Amino acid sequence: MKGVILAGGLGSRLFPLTKITNKHLLPVYDQPMIYYPIRTLINAGIDDIMIVTGGNSAGDFLKLLGNGKDFGLKHLNYTYQEGEGGIADALSLVEHFADDEPICVVLGDNIIERNIRQAADEYRAQGRGAKIMLKEVHDPQRFGVPELDRDKVLRIEEKPSEPKSSYAVIGIYFYDNTVFDVIKTLVPSDRGELEITDVNNHYIERGEMTWNELDGWWTDAGTFESLLRASNLVAESGANNLGLGLVG
Ligand code: G1P
Repeated sequence: MKGVILAGGLGSRLFPLTKITNKHLLPVYDQPMIYYPIRTLINAGIDDIMIVTGGNSAGDFLKLLGNGKDFGLKHLNYTYQEGEGGIADALSLVEHFADDEPICVVLGDNIIERNIRQAADEYRAQGRGAKIMLKEVHDPQRFGVPELDRDKVLRIEEKPSEPKSSYAVIGIYFYDNTVFDVIKTLVPSDRGELEITDVNNHYIERGEMTWNELDGWWTDAGTFESLLRASNLVAESGANNLGLGLVG
């Protein structure tokens, strides 16, 4: 399985912090935000990783990460997303890299306390289709929200005003190679983006979606409140040193 980190976008919800730099280069406690999703993948046994960047300061990712030596990697792959076409549009850029293998996609501003090793192993055993991860939250209307019938996800709604459950679909997804055909059928949402929620609903309609509940805390870091929360959670829990520490 290969890994993809989506680290593009203009970070407009964090303006002016993102006026001259990319959101994923901002600090979360003592490390740049992008370090956390890299560690999420490596801790799940995924070391062939592509970073999709875009917007401001794309070249700074190379300066910061190089070939990933600080994470014990031999190389890192990069690609560039023009404009702000959304998460699914960014994902369409990695078709060549995926080369028919399954992928684990992590949104670059999603930070977790523990690891996704069990979900990754279960998805490897699943062999096809997709897997999402859910976490109970107090503000589901900020996220993709599943409608659940016991263990079955019936549908996901993106930022619903009346959420059908108290779970968020977090920004860590597992897909087989049909994901790229699904993306080609999508049309932009009201916010002008190709939505990852529409991709997930395709898999649900095909009966090929499973889910796991995430252990430990999770947060995004794309707003002032959540960026502060992310720093505080990391500082309090030591999640910056969890698993594979930084070399050197
Ligand atoms: C995106 C997804 C949403 C998901 C969230 C997780 O939202 O569209 O379904 O719950 O990431 O962080 P966005 O950050 O683009 O508003």
